Amino acid sequence: MNILLTGASGFVGRNLGMALTTAGHVVRPVSRRHGVDLTKMLSPTDWLAQLDGIDAVINAVGIIGETRGQRFDVLHTLAPTALFRACEQVGVRRVVQISALGADDTAFSAYHLSKRAADEALLRLDVDGFVVRPSLIYGRGGTSAALFLRVSALPLIPVLEVGQQRLQPVHISDVVATVLRALDGPLPQRTIDVVGPQTFTFADWMQTLRVAQGLPQGRLLPVPHRLALKMCRLGQVLTPLAAPDNVRMLRKGYLADSRVIERFLGRPLLRPEPYLQFEDAAILWRNT
Ligand SMILES: NC(=O)c1ccc[n+]([C@@H]2O[C@H](COP(=O)([O-])OP(=O)(O)OC[C@H]3O[C@@H](n4cnc5c(N)ncnc54)[C@H](OP(=O)(O)O)[C@@H]3O)[C@@H](O)[C@H]2O)c1
Repeated sequence: MNILLTGASGFVGRNLGMALTTAGHVVRPVSRRHGVDLTKMLSPTDWLAQLDGIDAVINAVGIIGETRGQRFDVLHTLAPTALFRACEQVGVRRVVQISALGADDTAFSAYHLSKRAADEALLRLDVDGFVVRPSLIYGRGGTSAALFLRVSALPLIPVLEVGQQRLQPVHISDVVATVLRALDGPLPQRTIDVVGPQTFTFADWMQTLRVAQGLPQGRLLPVPHRLALKMCRLGQVLTPLAAPDNVRMLRKGYLADSRVIERFLGRPLLRPEPYLQFEDAAILWRNT
């Protein structure tokens, strides 16, 4: 198939691109690095040339915090919705949207709400839309994965409150496998939560990442919620990752039943054994 892949230069997009090419597909990459800025792709007509000869579309564009030129509503909702409508217009049937765990009825953050708006827009159209909602993804080359690795290696590991927030980190290979599985054949459902097989507290996840780096168990530095929010408001100047909403989302914690994605893939999910942290998805994907 000829596949248009937005977000092709990102963590998820790069891994998808490798796996798609290995599987014999031809990928048309879209990102600013590939010369396409989504902030300028807000109408279906903007996408028509990109869709010429395309059989399926994967949207893997996203940001975790806003800057002046990079807004959630533009990148997560307006541009993808224009792309999805263009797909409907020209008859590209299969469209896979990478959303996020928590972009559902419980959403409160601008991140999740903007994702949910695009998911809903896609599912309203006359295309075979499929929404993939991953939890925290780990694997080599991920920005947040790398940040968590660095934080876990600190002599004192800062954790929100006492680090009891729950999460189900999922390996990039399982996200890639889900998208590939969603590209052809009948779909048993239209939305799927892609979570890892184990639930960790944030504190336990930090210790697991330390073990993966050959470090002994570390000491935790509990940070009260209010202080964390204040620090984020200041830190936002340095990195959009420090958005206070990201603390609120971490605090809420998002979980899903991992048996659903296991049934979808028809195989067990990868367990976060230490060696997995540093593998490329393409290598693992070929072996699973
Ligand atoms: N990583 C996770 O743990 C995780 C978890 C759940 C959901 N997700 C979702 O998965 C998707 C991919 O995440 P990721 O981790 O791969 O993020 P990433 O590494 O930051 O990649 C983001 C991608 O979006 C592109 N992009 C950003 N602004 C753009 C613009 N103005 N025009 C064109 N392209 C633009 C980037 O390309 P350029 O910078 O070259 O433009 C890049 O290819 C996102 O929707 C994210 O919300 C990720």
